[in-house]
Amino acid sequence: MEPTCPYHIDRTGADVHAEAARIRANGPVSQVVLPGDVLAWSIVGYDEALQALADSRFSKDPRKHWTAFANGEIGQDFPLIGWALMDNMTTAYGPDHSRLRRLTAKAFTMRRVEAMRSKVEAVAQTLLDELAQVPAGEVIDLKARFAHPFPSRVICDLFGVPAHQRAAMLRGGELNVDTTLTPEEVAENIEQWHTMMHGFVADKRRSPGDDLTTDLLAAQEEDGGRLSDSELVGTLFLLLATGTEPVMNLIVNAAHVLLSQPEQLARARSGAVSWAQVIEETLRVEAPVAHLPFRFPVEDVKVGDTVIPKGDPVLIGFAGIGRDPVKHGPTAARFDPERADKSHLSFGHGLYRCIGAPLAMLEMELALPALFERFPDLELAVASDAVEPQGTFIMNGRKELPVRLTGRR
Ligand code: HEM
Repeated sequence: MEPTCPYHIDRTGADVHAEAARIRANGPVSQVVLPGDVLAWSIVGYDEALQALADSRFSKDPRKHWTAFANGEIGQDFPLIGWALMDNMTTAYGPDHSRLRRLTAKAFTMRRVEAMRSKVEAVAQTLLDELAQVPAGEVIDLKARFAHPFPSRVICDLFGVPAHQRAAMLRGGELNVDTTLTPEEVAENIEQWHTMMHGFVADKRRSPGDDLTTDLLAAQEEDGGRLSDSELVGTLFLLLATGTEPVMNLIVNAAHVLLSQPEQLARARSGAVSWAQVIEETLRVEAPVAHLPFRFPVEDVKVGDTVIPKGDPVLIGFAGIGRDPVKHGPTAARFDPERADKSHLSFGHGLYRCIGAPLAMLEMELALPALFERFPDLELAVASDAVEPQGTFIMNGRKELPVRLTGRR
């Protein structure tokens, strides 16, 4: 592929894999132009990403370490402004990052997550029972009926979000990853989710429960005023969004890949390959988070052969990293659960590695085999390549996944 420097990111996310390949043609670390004409760096090489993710000289705090932002050159009309204005661990650095991460990370350790197993399994089974009521041959959207409600119920149960508020509370996170929005829509979304979250927190202060929001409020009282209200609602926003969106994408992507390759599905169902292998390979070849903003080097940092100057914004191209031919050879883009090396960085690595990985893996372990066991005739209702992409360059998912659960009538 011919280099075209710098590559202009497609805000519609029409094909995140083709985009990653085009960016790679400029090198594993290269400049890209973001919507809004903001120049940034993209890392799509596996080795280079591993190096950058482990390097503590990358901050995530735009206020302190993004030169253009701190100088007032990034306007409110920048389409990704929501990613810079958030106030939580993903926009923090050093001791602030550790402080904000510690608040919630302890709730998602392997041990704490294992203790949730029966509850998470019950959510999956309830949804599958509901799907079993669908008349034979009817086409449904598996994303709307299973892949979204499953992780969103789990995370909303954990944070004690009342059923009637859930759709509205989750909407902010959905829109935050939609890179097709106009600046006005972005501003409206930020305003709305702030109002929703502040209202929710006020309700929870009045009526505490046995949930993680109540624990956060208790932590705020105990920590002598260090955790601000803005950080508190920013953290809630982050956890509800990350608890839902990438898990939903992983379920949708795994189902789409398997339904498009019946021979691989048959091997998984017969036990010839394990579901764990299928899940790892889906994470590699269809990373749920495609291209994640932002990091900022706090000094000039050499990554691979390229020096990224201090204060420039950097995106990590997880979708491209999983398919890096330097790491995975000429078949890197092929879904093959039996390949020996399925290494990926789809949960990140190092200081900022995903705190929800154990929960996401438990959810996958409970959802994917159960779905295919309950509906052995599950099939795509449209041609595989007619399934539309999600409409974002930040995430890698599908707009919807039309399927038939049982044979045609
Ligand atoms: C398949 C599902 C998931 C994938 C692929 C995923 C992926 C990621 C990635 C790529 C990062 C960024 C790492 C970085 O910037 O270096 C991240 C961070 C994070 N994830 Fe996940 N995630 C998933 C599920 C979850 C779940 C279920 C939760 C919550 C319960 C969660 C909570 C977080 C949080 C709070 C961070 C920020 C960590 C930090 O900045 O220190 N994620 N995740």
